Amino acid sequence: MNRDNFNILNKNIIYFDNGATSLKPKCLADSISDYYNNYSANAHRGDYDLSLKVDSKYEETRTLVKDFINAKKNKEIIFTSGATDSLNKIIFGYFKNYLTKDDEVLITKSEHASNVLPWFELQDNIKIKVKYIPLNNLEVTLDNVKNSITDKTKVISIAHITNVVGDIRPIKEIIKYAHSKNILVIIDGAQSVAHSKIDVQDLDIDFLAFSAHKMLGPTGVGVLYGKEELLNNIKPIIFGGGMNASFQFDGTRIYSELPFLLEAGTPNIAGVIGFGEAIKYLNKIGMDNIANYEKELKKYAINRLKEVKDIIIYNENSESGIITFNIKDIFAQDLAIYLNKYNICVRAGNHCAKILKDDLGIKNTCRISLYFYNTKEEIDYLVKVLNNKNIKDEII
Ligand code: ALA
Repeated sequence: MNRDNFNILNKNIIYFDNGATSLKPKCLADSISDYYNNYSANAHRGDYDLSLKVDSKYEETRTLVKDFINAKKNKEIIFTSGATDSLNKIIFGYFKNYLTKDDEVLITKSEHASNVLPWFELQDNIKIKVKYIPLNNLEVTLDNVKNSITDKTKVISIAHITNVVGDIRPIKEIIKYAHSKNILVIIDGAQSVAHSKIDVQDLDIDFLAFSAHKMLGPTGVGVLYGKEELLNNIKPIIFGGGMNASFQFDGTRIYSELPFLLEAGTPNIAGVIGFGEAIKYLNKIGMDNIANYEKELKKYAINRLKEVKDIIIYNENSESGIITFNIKDIFAQDLAIYLNKYNICVRAGNHCAKILKDDLGIKNTCRISLYFYNTKEEIDYLVKVLNNKNIKDEII
């Protein structure tokens, strides 16, 4: 990995907000600009060379994504506008029809808004029940999952890694147990797919949602993965061009096959093509190398941060690259603004997981989220800035 590939890293900025979005390598912008400058035709609609080139580049990314998560078939990969869109399509396109009154969905209080609010809508619309798997020290355990299941539980919908405390859930064991009870499992992979190898067949995931922009790709592109047999029963929630084979004045119509059925309208072609470059970049580094490096960096960061006076770390034992903390008597947002003065980017607030505050015992935190281009030197500098004797004066 060459840090020079990331322009922003050459601007004297320390970027610790990878949970929000990753930085982008130059090859991403190059491929997007190549599309716009040199072959910017539509996809799946033209019979001329320019358009056929677009089709082939667009579908190349689908194959790259399929291989990246080890899906069985290209048709199991649906391009969306992001993980939020993917989750909405899964929940409203599949589960709205699959679930009936009093059926239960299990989530947790640390889910992101995009894996809570759609379920609340179904709770109102079709009277399902949203239930929470209790957390042990902010983490999900298989036993807690088992104890939360009733004969009404039809689906478990959880993040693989949560965006606030970064706990890595034992999804393989949870999925295995859920399947033994005929329960489907949706995995929100927004914080995990970028950071370690995800094998949907090995994990036996039913549905997976993730975003390109957290894995070196562009904003506005995401992936909905579903097992083919489940996607065969999903209904589109967006209708229009590209998703139909024919329609008549009397309302009869024939819809397209997967994956196009779920990709109505002109897609984010440039973004999808760029996403392909991002995946190639990640493949070159190797997902296992990324996971191992982040683990080591996280350990280093925790050890160093413990030297900071009055620091409260909420998740020192979680295994991902997410570190959630506060400094006693300093409001989280004020701390983020203070760090910004030193060109250090962290996120502060509730991180879109607004119902975790009861379990966490605090509403707002600062969050460092690491990626493979972060370094020990950057962490040393962060610790130095946090150890500034005049920190409180500088904030006031
Ligand atoms: N969900 C993103 C985050 O955690 C935006 O920051």
